[in-house]
Amino acid sequence: MASNKHIVVMFTVLSIAELLFLPTSVFSIPFVVFHGISDNCNNKGISQFTSLLSDWSGAQGHCIEIGNGAMDSWTMPFFEQTALACEKVKSMSELSGGYNIVGLSQGNLVGRGVIELCDGGPPVRNFVSLGGPHAGIAAIPLCKSAWFCILVDSLIKVAIYSDYVQEHLAPANYIKIPTDLDAYESGCKFLPVLNNEFHKNSTYKKRFSSLENLVLIKFENDGVLVPKETSWFGYFPDGSWDPILPAQETTLYTEDWIGLKTLDEAGRVKFVNVSGSHLEVSYGEMKDYIVPYLLENTTAQQRLSKSSHPSAWSAHEGKILKLYASD
Ligand SMILES: *[C@@H]1O[C@H](CO)[C@@H](O)[C@H](O)[C@H]1NC(C)=O
Ligand SMILES: *[C@@H]1O[C@H](CO)[C@@H](O)[C@H](O)[C@H]1NC(C)=O
Ligand SMILES: *[C@@H]1O[C@H](CO)[C@@H](O)[C@H](O)[C@H]1NC(C)=O
Repeated sequence: MASNKHIVVMFTVLSIAELLFLPTSVFSIPFVVFHGISDNCNNKGISQFTSLLSDWSGAQGHCIEIGNGAMDSWTMPFFEQTALACEKVKSMSELSGGYNIVGLSQGNLVGRGVIELCDGGPPVRNFVSLGGPHAGIAAIPLCKSAWFCILVDSLIKVAIYSDYVQEHLAPANYIKIPTDLDAYESGCKFLPVLNNEFHKNSTYKKRFSSLENLVLIKFENDGVLVPKETSWFGYFPDGSWDPILPAQETTLYTEDWIGLKTLDEAGRVKFVNVSGSHLEVSYGEMKDYIVPYLLENTTAQQRLSKSSHPSAWSAHEGKILKLYASD
């Protein structure tokens, strides 16, 4: 008798535990993070970012490293970065049922490369993009270590669209000088392909348009991306430095090169504007704009939004993560 009672108690405890933990494990698919330039998955900021998102969503999170991290993020050409990322996501069996991508800055182009170019990769459901140079950039990201800046500077002076620079300076693969578009078309080795700009590949468009949600987070005080509107797919007009066009007025959008317009008209693009500088995001913003898309479906999303501002959470709402590593 006594032992039966004991068993009943144990079962009760078990089912309470299941009730508490099941929702997260049942409703959340894993997510992966692609970090920005100069960063590394082992850095404190990025590992904190990944584990906070994981804690808040109940989803398994993985920061995926490309090559050796910081240095390769500067020097490895993007087709190589994307191919490595593609192999990694294919080798992770936990992603095979579908997963979400969180991209940081340059890591967004790796993420989009995986979505569009990765043959046989697991399906990507939601893509949350923080400060991504989606439409290109017109200046090299800030560099803080003196010798490296000198190197970068002299490489640029050689000619940004030369084969040599394209093969040795990763950001050159997405620099788009609006007044030098002929050289960009013939020399730039990655962005034009990713954006279906000159040669169209309907497979890339089909894959990108199949996203459930595309969340584009722009940092209002971004001093790294030129122009900051590129994180919303806005850019300079062809042949001129002004005015900066909103996404909806660019040819990429109006001609629907990659399906951005299709997604937008289906209500699946969220244009989010936050007040920080490049990759400076508060806990509250992470909970409002990232976590909901890491939860499996609307039921789970509603559960979150109902409980998203309890006093237990508000204590740290103002805390800020700075994810731009500049050394
Ligand atoms: C488009 O991309 C797919 C997938 O990578 C590839 O199989 C196909 O050959 C490409 N088509 C063209 C016209 O380049
Ligand atoms: C973005 O937010 C800032 C304030 O944080 C505001 O001044 C600006 O107008 C907003 N921009 C858009 C396009 O919503
Ligand atoms: C969404 O959540 C409900 C539970 O509320 C579940 O029955 C359903 O299978 C989930 N849908 C998907 C696509 O996972």
